[in-house]
Amino acid sequence: MISEASAPGKIILFGEHFVVYGVKAILASVDKRITVTSRKTNEKKIMIDSLFGNQSYSSDVDIKSIKPEIKPIAYLAKTTINKFDWTGGIQIKIDSQLPSGVGLGSSSSSCVASAASVSGLFEEPSKENILNLAIDAERTIFPQTSGADCTVCTYGGIIEYQKEKGYKKLDVKPDFELVILNSDTIHSTDKMVNQVREFKNTNPEMFLKLREKETNLIEEAKQALRNNDSSNLGRIMRENQSYLEEIGVSNQNLQNIIEFANSKTFGSKLTGAGGGGCIISITNKNDLKTVTESFERTKYKYWTAKLDFDGLIVG
Ligand code: MEV
Repeated sequence: MISEASAPGKIILFGEHFVVYGVKAILASVDKRITVTSRKTNEKKIMIDSLFGNQSYSSDVDIKSIKPEIKPIAYLAKTTINKFDWTGGIQIKIDSQLPSGVGLGSSSSSCVASAASVSGLFEEPSKENILNLAIDAERTIFPQTSGADCTVCTYGGIIEYQKEKGYKKLDVKPDFELVILNSDTIHSTDKMVNQVREFKNTNPEMFLKLREKETNLIEEAKQALRNNDSSNLGRIMRENQSYLEEIGVSNQNLQNIIEFANSKTFGSKLTGAGGGGCIISITNKNDLKTVTESFERTKYKYWTAKLDFDGLIVG
């Protein structure tokens, strides 16, 4: 038996980092996916074939000994084998359309698709159970995750997410054009989140003020989304970027790219953990051609992304 599932990548429109401290964030899933195919094997092994190569472990491997790139996937396989008292092993193949380590949710998307694919070998799990399993898996490499990324990769569309309250789908269909540009610098989400924690501990009052500003900005962003007001959304993005700069997750290279992108679009910001990774820009249909022509002249890879409204697809 083969069990297949795929999950989309994601962008954070507004609210990364602050979401770890209880502020709402607005996220969307995008039209590049990770597909995971798994099968049971008689051999007591966990075999993982991904862009990080072919790895094979005994099915009672100590998860701590596994390299971070595939640790969550091995965790999922081992947990599932134990849960269902499976006497054999599991073989997992991961195919990705997403660049990894650049803020587009490659880790969360692979956790969600793998959780669905691997547990689908034994039962028909609910989306909620898949999400919980995926978050547990991601915590093996990123203990402080807010859970926002796995949530949008599971449910798709545009969501509002708050750590203690969970998610709400936003019933909006904005007609902005979204351009994603990859600064080509890989980052570690865990490292960036720890860096923000240090910033917060050394600058408690400043962080509190920014947290308040971000809370208000998210409400403005929701209103702009409801009004389908792309130009205002662009302004809100630039404002959000300035808060991210203040907490130290941007850098000169990102700022140069964002400044250039801002001169061509309604607005831009980094997306995800920062310290590198991707930026997102908002424009409209009429200007898209001019925008992409000017992005073409940079040395960076970019693409016009479409929003995904499917989320996790099983089978
Ligand atoms: C990373 O994509 C988003 C962060 O807000 C961390 C998190 O929410 O878990 C930086």
